[in-house]
Amino acid sequence: LAADQSGVWRFRDLLPIVPVDKIVTLYEGNTPLYEMPRCAALLGMNWLLAKHQGMNPTGSFKDTGMTAALSVAVANGFEWVACASTGNTSAAMAAYAARAGLRSLVLIPEGKIAWGKLSQAMDYGSTTVQLRTDFDGCVRVLAEIVQRAPVYLLNSVNPYRLEGQKTPAFEILEQMDWQVPHHLIVPGGNLANCSALGKGFAELQHLGFIKRVPKISVIQAAGANPLYRWMQAGGVGPFEPVEAHTRATAIRIGNPASWKKAVKVLATTGGWVEEVSEQEIALAKAEIGAEGIGCEPASAVTLAGLKKLVADGRVGKEETAVLLLTGHTLKDPEYTIQYHRGALLSDKEAAAETVAQRAANAKL
Ligand code: F0G
Repeated sequence: LAADQSGVWRFRDLLPIVPVDKIVTLYEGNTPLYEMPRCAALLGMNWLLAKHQGMNPTGSFKDTGMTAALSVAVANGFEWVACASTGNTSAAMAAYAARAGLRSLVLIPEGKIAWGKLSQAMDYGSTTVQLRTDFDGCVRVLAEIVQRAPVYLLNSVNPYRLEGQKTPAFEILEQMDWQVPHHLIVPGGNLANCSALGKGFAELQHLGFIKRVPKISVIQAAGANPLYRWMQAGGVGPFEPVEAHTRATAIRIGNPASWKKAVKVLATTGGWVEEVSEQEIALAKAEIGAEGIGCEPASAVTLAGLKKLVADGRVGKEETAVLLLTGHTLKDPEYTIQYHRGALLSDKEAAAETVAQRAANAKL
């Protein structure tokens, strides 16, 4: 397969200039846009779609950005790359660095990332450092390290990552035959998706491919909600970081790198910021799972948030909404098993009884 068949490099005309022989790809992108009929019915909507970025090679949306930024690192002759991460960036960076034959350094907060993600960084051969701090602390430590060594920084502040992460906007439009959805709902952690996808849609509008852009709304976990708080306070004055706590560990971020860009996208597209509780996240995740699709907890905030936007009419039931699912359900199986533990059966009589009961109920 040629490098420019990847769902990112197909759009090379709108990406940073990288010589073709420097492209580092695992054939990311080209992810499915699923219909979500059961979730739509729960919300009373006509239809609901989910763009599943968890179906990328390392199981998260990070691959689309990593292919762009890692290719730039190679083109510029770097030998080391590094990032701080809540797990998915590090998994993606480790894979793409290995692919390119580069060394990689990962800083993660000890005990605060899902096992699937930690195992990936190790499997792909990254130098992996667990620090007794949170994600925001890891970012600070990394900033010191890169000042002392010729290491290419692959955190969210890297602009080439956002360039790759804008490409799902193009794919969504292709997959919808260029009918612009009314709403795009994204999770909010470091606020890269909001910034990157906002840029992607804006570029297509600017080039005349579309006449309007979707409203992009950001959903944060209530325990990690710096953007929500800032907007509630009027969206003026200094941006206050928060101490972040949520079991959706991917978005346990108190000081988001891309907040300014995200605010701009919210303002220009007319979207909203919402917050959702831990219970609301867990329920939404189970509902997405019951579609036969599944996602990680951080992605499920999108459905939980959409419920609030529909409840008060900010999203109309006849409008089209697309949820951005950012990570695969297998990233964090521990979370899922804990949630469903009570329903786990352990003897054959109970199994037979449950099946008989369900069958009888279905006949009623
Ligand atoms: N969803 C998942 C699965 C993530 O891994 C992340 C961020 C987000 C959402 C939030 O993304 O920046 O667009 O708001 N994960 C980063 C990491 C921080 O290190 O893997 P955003």
